[in-house]
Amino acid sequence: MQIVILNNPADVAAYGAEIFKQQIRRKPKSVLGLATGSTPVALYNHLIDANQSGELSFKAAATFNLDEYLGLAGAHPQSYRYFMDTALFNHIDIDKSQTAVPQGNAQNPLQACRDYEAQIKAKGGIDLQLLGIGRNGHIGFNEPSSGLQSRTRVKALTPATIADNARFFADGEYQPRLSITMGIGTILEAKKILLLATGASKAEAIQATVEGPLSAACPASALQMHQDAVIVVDEAAAATLANKEFYKHVEAENQKLLAQFSLE
Ligand code: GLP
Repeated sequence: MQIVILNNPADVAAYGAEIFKQQIRRKPKSVLGLATGSTPVALYNHLIDANQSGELSFKAAATFNLDEYLGLAGAHPQSYRYFMDTALFNHIDIDKSQTAVPQGNAQNPLQACRDYEAQIKAKGGIDLQLLGIGRNGHIGFNEPSSGLQSRTRVKALTPATIADNARFFADGEYQPRLSITMGIGTILEAKKILLLATGASKAEAIQATVEGPLSAACPASALQMHQDAVIVVDEAAAATLANKEFYKHVEAENQKLLAQFSLE
C-alpha cells in the first residue's frame, strides 16, 4: 500500500483527481469503479472541470459503482444512481448507457448481483477503483463481518452505518436497511485502488486499515492484500497512524524518484 498524507481535504481531492486524469489519458477506454458519499464529491468536481474545459474526455470510458440501496429505484433522490447522475454523469461527456450502478429495484436481487459481476467481467475488469471508507471500516457496503473474498451480493447495513447515512434522508422518510454491494473479492480484482478519507471521524478506520490486522472486522484492511492500493488521507484522518512520519517520508522520497520517470 502507498500511504499519502496531505494537508487538507482539498489537497486529497486534487491528488485523487490527478490519478483519475492520468488513468483516462493513458487509456481513454478505461473501466472506472466509482463511489458515493461526501468524500468523492470534490474529486468529481475536478473531473467535471477537466471535462468541461476540454482537458479530458469520458466518451470512451465505462463505469461501475460500488453499491446501491436495495429497495430504491434509480429515480429516487436518495438512490446512489441519482447521486451519481447529479454529482458527475450529467455534467460530463460520458455515454450514460456505459455507467452501471447495481439495480436497487431489481425483481430478483440475487440475479442482479450475478449479472453485475458478469457485466464487470465482460468489460475486462475495473482499471481504477475509487473508494471512500465508513467510520467502521466498510468499503462499498461491505460491513464488518464481510468475507474478504466476497462477491457482489445483498448485504445488511449495520445500525452505525444507518445512523451515519440518516443525514441524507428527511425525517420520517423510508431509509433502506439492505444494500447491493460489490464484494471485497470483486473490489480486490480492480487493477488499481484509490481510497480517500478525510476528517478526524475516519482516523480510527484508517489506522485499522493500514496498521491493523487483516480482518473482516475492518473490511478495508483487505486492501493490504492488493498490489496497487493508494490510500490518500488528510492530516486529521492520519492522526492516529503509529508510523505516520515514515509514510510521509517514504511518500516524499517516492515523489522525487517518480519525477525522474515519465508516468505516461
Ligand atoms: C456510504 C457508502 C460508502 C462510503 C461511505 C462513507 O456508506 N456506501 O461507499 O465510503 O458512505 O461516506 P462519506 O464519504 O460521506 O463519509
